[in-house]
Amino acid sequence: MPAVVMQRLAHVLTASQFDRESTDALLDRASQLHGIRDDVLAGKIMATLFYEPSTRTRLSFEAAMLRRGGGVISAEDASQTSSAVKGETLEDTVRVVGTYADLIVLRHPTVGASQQAAAVSPVPLINAGDGSGEHPTQALLDIYTIRRELGGLDGRHIVLCGDLRFSRTVHSLVTLASLFDIRFSLVSTPELTMPPEMVASLRDTGAKVTETADINDVIRDCDVLYPTRVQTERTDVKYDANFVVNKALMQRLPDSAIVMSPLPRREEIDTEIDDDPRVAYFRQAANGVPVRMALLESLLT
Ligand code: NCD
Repeated sequence: MPAVVMQRLAHVLTASQFDRESTDALLDRASQLHGIRDDVLAGKIMATLFYEPSTRTRLSFEAAMLRRGGGVISAEDASQTSSAVKGETLEDTVRVVGTYADLIVLRHPTVGASQQAAAVSPVPLINAGDGSGEHPTQALLDIYTIRRELGGLDGRHIVLCGDLRFSRTVHSLVTLASLFDIRFSLVSTPELTMPPEMVASLRDTGAKVTETADINDVIRDCDVLYPTRVQTERTDVKYDANFVVNKALMQRLPDSAIVMSPLPRREEIDTEIDDDPRVAYFRQAANGVPVRMALLESLLT
């Protein structure tokens, strides 16, 4: 990896740490790592410390580390089985785990937990989701997927719909995507709109942003449709039936568009569309491995 990427990324806490050059360099590297197994990280240990449920994020980090020849230790259910149950602070846990591992991947229900943990961590720490805050490595794999599926980012129209308020993947994605020339349409009910300060800073980057509650307003020239489930851990608001991505809605989506999702999906994506070639969410989930392989290399070598 170029030295500039390695130096800048002591910890990965927010998508706003990345500039266009470091993003492109990392994702170029990821594109060379599909299907690769090597021993670049032999002797290194990654700890996954997860205080919230996860399937893809934790397992793709672990697969990425194993594919590079490294080792993994895991507290996959840390809120139930770690010393957190005995009242240990996150800081104390991270101080100690950082003496067992060369890198920590942390998921936690509290916004800002990764900043708090990184402040005392003796080793690089990656934010794998902090409550409704951010999920920067998901944004990296999302951008990677758009590049790979559509050939590039510039000039694209991304339609985000569903829970834009609590969805950390959306928060990190708009930040990272704003490094490119993107038009954003934000589709949600009034209870689940993107926080106004986030919309304002997105507009400050020069991005064109449309907010609407009618998906039909924006779907006609959409390149990427990105529905998100309602974060039921954080709100009781229901998903709006008008935004369900089903066969009827797919008929209105351009042939060249793709449908993405961080997964898991609930009612917002009907399984009846899964065989449509525009459905990219399973390919997207698979891209998590090469992207995280590149990231681990840049942090640990
Ligand atoms: C997301 C998450 O945990 O933020 N999942 C993921 O990491 N791929 C999305 C979600 O839980 O809705």
